[in-house]
Amino acid sequence: MSDRYMWFEGVPFPTMDFTPELMREAWESFVFKDEDVLILTYPKSGTNWLVEIVCLICSKGDPKWIQSVPIWDRSPWVETEYGYNSLKDKEGPRLISSHLPIQLIPKSLFNSKAKVIYLIRNPRDVLISGYFFWRTSYFVKKAESLKEYFEWFIKGNVPFGSWFDHIHGWMSMKGKENFLILSYEELKWDTRSTVDKICQFLGRKLEPEEMNSLLKNSSFQVMKENNMSNLSLLRGQFFDEKNGILLRKGITGDWKNHITVAQAEAFDKIFQEKMADLPRELFPWE
Ligand code: A3P
Repeated sequence: MSDRYMWFEGVPFPTMDFTPELMREAWESFVFKDEDVLILTYPKSGTNWLVEIVCLICSKGDPKWIQSVPIWDRSPWVETEYGYNSLKDKEGPRLISSHLPIQLIPKSLFNSKAKVIYLIRNPRDVLISGYFFWRTSYFVKKAESLKEYFEWFIKGNVPFGSWFDHIHGWMSMKGKENFLILSYEELKWDTRSTVDKICQFLGRKLEPEEMNSLLKNSSFQVMKENNMSNLSLLRGQFFDEKNGILLRKGITGDWKNHITVAQAEAFDKIFQEKMADLPRELFPWE
């Protein structure tokens, strides 16, 4: 159980598997290679879903890999001790995950042609998903209530800091050839076309039956039952024995079931103020 965060360069992080020494080393010394693919998100934006999809693109729809290797080994986290150590000497093209804000990503990214997919999601759904997820974990500070978590989220006093800052930071990469921006919403509303977009970006092609297998094996229900992807292997160690759950609802707009009218209005106002300088079409949920 944790009642605090691990702070690094003014940003709060989980207390397990994160250390300032390792994060500094990764920041300064980790070398991205041109053939790497980086899956980048603010937490609770659908990271694991995107990892599952990219793995299935790499395996041409064959589910053997996703059914036999834990998701954190298929696409390790560059900022964690475990992930960094498994990535740094890995040969060949790598799948890499990260929740880091732009100012803390290993600096070598900006001198490489590594392909980056940045997945964003309605921050109201991110907020609700995070509230329910972090409270079952042993490695972040727990809010007493949704009301308290709401306040923390607005201030950026949640794991990986402010959603608004994360988006602003990474949106500065918009338009770069090796940077693809997607949203959870488009992935949800039109999965097939969005997977096509990812394939195109990665220079991969799937036959119709390979695509069908990908869509089936990355669906909410199938992923929820896949012990290599649903984080159930980490129960007891990182998460609550019974309630630790990644695949909670998997829908868009669940925030409407949890946030009060007053909170929704307050959030709208903050969103307008903070995101006014970014084009509306980046946010399909608005
Ligand atoms: P909810 O808590 O709203 O259900 P992350 O992987 O970044 O931690 O994001 C977790 C969110 O993605 C959870 O949202 C989870 O249910 C959703 N998710 C994971 N796999 C999914 C899938 N195959 N289809 C739809 N949503 C998925």
